[in-house]
Amino acid sequence: MRDYILLFINGKKHKVSSIYAKQNLSEYLRDTLGMKGTKIVCSEGDCGACTVLLHRYIDKKKTTFSSINSCIAPLYVLDCCHIITIEGIETSNSIHPVQEAMAKHHGTQCGFCTPGIVNALVSMSDDLIAANKNVDMKKVKNYTTGNLCRCTGYKGIVEAGMSLDLSEIKPLFERYDSKEIQEELEIAFKDEVVLDDKEKEISIILPKTIKRAVELKTENYSVISGGTDISVFVNKGYNKTKKFVSLINVDELYEIQDNDDFVSFSSRVSLTDVEKSCEEYFEEFANSLKVFASPQIKNKGTLIGNIANGSPIGDTIPFLYVSDASLELVSANGQRDILIPDFYLGYKQFALKDDEIITKVKIPKKDKEFKIYKVSARKDLDISVVSLAIGYKIEDEKIIDISIAYGGVAATVYKAKALEEVLLNKELKEEYFKEAISLIPSLLTPFSDHRGSSEFRIKLCQNLLMKFYSEVTSQREVA
Ligand SMILES: Cc1cc2nc3c(=O)[nH]c(=O)nc-3n(C[C@H](O)[C@H](O)[C@H](O)COP(=O)(O)OP(=O)(O)OC[C@H]3O[C@@H](n4cnc5c(N)ncnc54)[C@H](O)[C@@H]3O)c2cc1C
Ligand code: FES
Ligand code: FES
Repeated sequence: MRDYILLFINGKKHKVSSIYAKQNLSEYLRDTLGMKGTKIVCSEGDCGACTVLLHRYIDKKKTTFSSINSCIAPLYVLDCCHIITIEGIETSNSIHPVQEAMAKHHGTQCGFCTPGIVNALVSMSDDLIAANKNVDMKKVKNYTTGNLCRCTGYKGIVEAGMSLDLSEIKPLFERYDSKEIQEELEIAFKDEVVLDDKEKEISIILPKTIKRAVELKTENYSVISGGTDISVFVNKGYNKTKKFVSLINVDELYEIQDNDDFVSFSSRVSLTDVEKSCEEYFEEFANSLKVFASPQIKNKGTLIGNIANGSPIGDTIPFLYVSDASLELVSANGQRDILIPDFYLGYKQFALKDDEIITKVKIPKKDKEFKIYKVSARKDLDISVVSLAIGYKIEDEKIIDISIAYGGVAATVYKAKALEEVLLNKELKEEYFKEAISLIPSLLTPFSDHRGSSEFRIKLCQNLLMKFYSEVTSQREVA
């Protein structure tokens, strides 16, 4: 057993004792270590000022550091990780080429956002070098989606990113990875970590097995995967939980299975890795993840975290409804599978027993196509007002299979069975879609909030279904 968190920061070893375990990395860096280069602005994962780079020991095969938001990264989800902060970017004799480019292209003014933007661009350049790819505008914009700049404007920042000569950049992994660090982490990784702060009555445990994680869940420990979601609530003071079980060191939970019948993702698979794995078979789902949050959130947050958070505007859930996905739930008494629609009982109420954790989501490979739509006030890093996922099969211009699920219109994702009934076994004709959308106002009573009124949401539901009709029709005409 180990009673501290082991971390490497810019190549230097840190043993973090239990009194700091619940602290976010941003506070630990700034307040405990005095490393003020990392900035804190929103403390919600929204602005990117606190961006640092992370490599987990468990991802041994990966040769790059990924960007994360340190303001929503409690230290107990970072055990056996190597972190590079803005202080570790430059070398002893020169600043990093990304820093040089930002200065040359006037990408900084007050400078508050700059460390985060530099780190986001370093993660881009290192990823592109590892994948043997070139810089382009789309990549620069994608990698900086999670970074806000309030005074410079983005022109200089994008130009700085575009100007990078990758042949001049030595990736951080080459600079920082060492046999000694790997050996230390390998030894440390074998232990369960128990962090008790008796004074504050906080208990945090990092088990090594699913069995042990389940035992702790039974003892009322809150299960934490990437921690991106729960940390926002903790930072705002809404979450007073004192007992956490962090799944970060359970190696069996990092599995991705891809066979003839299904793809499955275990609880600790990040949204970034889900996006990559789905590119081939569930391309529409992978594309929808491109407008999910930001790279920083997707590198640490998980698909299971999104499912277990269970918000009716959770972006992944409508697709999981219409793809007939199921969850694997494990308790001390064994394992059971449950279909996604059966898992959601009401607003944030789940068919998950007190002694169960979610270990896997399984998406069957069926002969079906998908369309996914998200409407939000802005394209990137925003929450849905309404979303729609449709799984369908059309043969000889007839809809022979259709499932429809809306997000953001009810206490849970809404499976629109009445609309499916109207459209099933009908020809792909506008009149049937018009008939279906005429039913929507009588089926749904969405809530009104600052994102949109109930009437607006109903209109969106109707328009999205017509959009589906028009897209599918024109695709078939082109084919
Ligand atoms: C800035 C920001 C942007 C976001 N953007 C989007 C967006 O565009 N679309 C969207 O849908 N969501 C968005 N989210 C929310 C999103 O749900 C999460 O960030 C992410 O998917 C959560 O994963 P996690 O592993 O970090 O979850 P965690 O924070 O670790 O956990 C979330 C919840 O799930 C529970 N849980 C986790 N794992 C398990 C398990 N194995 N068994 C049982 N319970 C478990 C936890 O107890 C907790 O209640 C955003 C969040 C932030 C902070
Ligand atoms: S401080 Fe804004 S994302 Fe962390
Ligand atoms: S330079 Fe001031 S916020 Fe970006």
